[in-house]
Amino acid sequence: MFLKSIRLTNFRNQSDVGFEFSPSVNIFVGQNGIGKTNLAEAIYYLCFLKSFRTSSEEFVLQKDKNHFNVTGNFGFEEGGNSEVILIYKKGEGKKISQNHKVVNRFSEFIGSHPCVCLTPDDIQISNGSPSGRRKFIDVVISQTSKIYLDSLIRYNKIIKQKNKLLSEFEPKKIDDFLDPWDEELSSYCFEIIRRRKDFLKKISTELSDFYNKLSGGKEEITVSYESSLEFTETQQDIYNELVRKRRIEKARKSSVFGIHRDDVSFKLSGYAARGFASQGQHKTLILALKLSEINFLKNEMLESPIAIFDDVFSELDSSRIGEFFKLVGDKTQIFVTTTHEFENLETEKRIFRI
Ligand SMILES: Nc1ncnc2c1ncn2[C@@H]1O[C@H](COP(=O)(O)OP(=O)(O)O)[C@@H](O)[C@H]1O
Ligand SMILES: [Mg+2]
Repeated sequence: MFLKSIRLTNFRNQSDVGFEFSPSVNIFVGQNGIGKTNLAEAIYYLCFLKSFRTSSEEFVLQKDKNHFNVTGNFGFEEGGNSEVILIYKKGEGKKISQNHKVVNRFSEFIGSHPCVCLTPDDIQISNGSPSGRRKFIDVVISQTSKIYLDSLIRYNKIIKQKNKLLSEFEPKKIDDFLDPWDEELSSYCFEIIRRRKDFLKKISTELSDFYNKLSGGKEEITVSYESSLEFTETQQDIYNELVRKRRIEKARKSSVFGIHRDDVSFKLSGYAARGFASQGQHKTLILALKLSEINFLKNEMLESPIAIFDDVFSELDSSRIGEFFKLVGDKTQIFVTTTHEFENLETEKRIFRI
């Protein structure tokens, strides 16, 4: 899949602009603060219907305006086109249409335009807290499975209710409420853990390969799922454990077991990346992870994703950037933002001076 063109109105500092893209590499060049990340953000909006840097559209809306629009035209490898129009109006929220049909449930749309995005904040996946790693895997898998995304949404709703109950009511009086919730939670937990483990298994070999290709070294990278639950073989196992450990959750007045507390562990030659790896190793790991994510989506879906790299190549020279693009593969359309033009980059590319 590739994005042929985009048009933005009142989107951050862009009052009204349009671009026609190359199906291969597109590079936005310009000084700091000029609006490059804003363009990357607009492309991301067309795939996820939200921003990668804020959950509030108020920040995205241009100052003193009351609406913003993003329109994109995609072409598919399998044939056909898709026109996505997103309109945000102050006080009314977002409305989305695809090929002139209104998108009512945003979760139905996710995955129809697969996308991989890397920004400087993503270093958190490797050296930050577990929530960043969970978000990373959730965004990838949600694009490949509606069951996964729906399970996650439903799970999070129940956990909120469960936490409210645990924090506000007498522990002795709440078992009757908790039983059916823990039963439902255990079924979503089972499904989500199964798919998360499957994803990690599928990327694990490639992750090491990509890491070593990028670093020129011979390190073994391992990735494993670390659940807050001990027994996750069956849904019944999970339910039994939730019931067994309920007294702990009651004492803490919060739900502490389940997929919202799980983590992923990355190891470099046997040592946990978090706490052990150097800044350079973290960056290489994240680049390798994004390459693995691109291949995972290519394999799981009918269309190759588009790839957005926002301001992440500043320390690489052109030959290493060219090699990185080769690893991405020529079927994947790439968007890059940078303050410095990549001298002598041989890859076929279209440059946009912002
Ligand atoms: N809602 C908004 N309305 C108008 N300008 C905005 C809005 N949000 C951000 N900006 C402006 O966008 C610019 C930052 O753009 P950004 O894409 O982050 O720059 P960079 O080229 O460094 O990536 C800043 O000048 C900021 O003031
Ligand atoms: Mg930027």
